[in-house]
Amino acid sequence: MPTYTQPITELIQQRFSCRKYNKEPIPVEMQEKLRSMMAELSTGPFGTPMRFDLITAENQDGKALRGLGTYGFIQGASGFVVGALGAGQLNLEEYGYRMEQIVLAATNLGLGTCWLGGTFTKSAFARRIVLQDDERMPAILAIGLIDDEVQSRKGAIRQYVAGQRRIPWKELFFDRVWGTALSPEDAGEYSRSLEMVRLGPSASNKQPWRIVRTDGFFHFFIQRTKGYRNLMTRLVQIDDMQRLDMGIAMCHFELTACELGLNGKWGIVDHGLDLPNDLIEYSVSWILTD
Ligand SMILES: Cc1cc2nc3c(=O)[nH]c(=O)nc-3n(C[C@H](O)[C@H](O)[C@H](O)COP(=O)(O)O)c2cc1C
Repeated sequence: MPTYTQPITELIQQRFSCRKYNKEPIPVEMQEKLRSMMAELSTGPFGTPMRFDLITAENQDGKALRGLGTYGFIQGASGFVVGALGAGQLNLEEYGYRMEQIVLAATNLGLGTCWLGGTFTKSAFARRIVLQDDERMPAILAIGLIDDEVQSRKGAIRQYVAGQRRIPWKELFFDRVWGTALSPEDAGEYSRSLEMVRLGPSASNKQPWRIVRTDGFFHFFIQRTKGYRNLMTRLVQIDDMQRLDMGIAMCHFELTACELGLNGKWGIVDHGLDLPNDLIEYSVSWILTD
């Protein structure tokens, strides 16, 4: 578990998707810190093998990124975090979890990041980490120095409006029964962990996480977007992106719980809940332990 010098809840609140960078390279000592942290992240929380690397932007990367289309125009990123992921039942969630730990470490160093999971030309980035046949690269991060004023100001404004850009608690977190709102008061000591899930980044800001608390558990579900099973969404791999979002949610939830001294572990259980429709998919549960 990497160590952060600032409280995790502060880092989560400071983070935003930075799309404009100062072209200067990331200072060498910061690069070293990130690389040594990444070297420790050789498996996911369920043991799936993965590896990450920090690469310096090359001229042709901009061209590869242009494939992202109108969704997010990344300017001046001096580096990227690329990753290679092995096979495993929850491998995409695990990759989301570990990559988000890197995001928070970069935030801790004052760096800007942006998850990039669109249909960009992955081969250009895959080549740089020498992707093997049994590996895949589900998403990468743009990383670099935040372009001073403009972006920081955007960050400040963003913090102010952040609540409005997020789905309210009552639509995300439920108590025992799907649809029965769990209030922050009722969530008690876990309210911070849930709030940190809510503030997390997600592909197209869809915020697909839904959580139901029952006795001794927090069950995590993916709220799928209508039509996600059709060819188009499969082609652009939106479904995969949402599994990364779940991993990010797990990361925020667990790191916050750890910071508060709350004990638990992840597992797949028989949740026994009635779900209102088939767009809701069970993901994983946080099991409270002593
Ligand atoms: C898995 C994933 C993939 C993403 N892909 C892109 C992308 O391709 N381009 C982009 O500009 N932003 C991308 N984002 C960033 C989201 O748009 C962003 O997290 C969301 O709009 C919320 O804004 P915030 O991160 O500033 O809080 C991605 C985020 C996640 C978690």
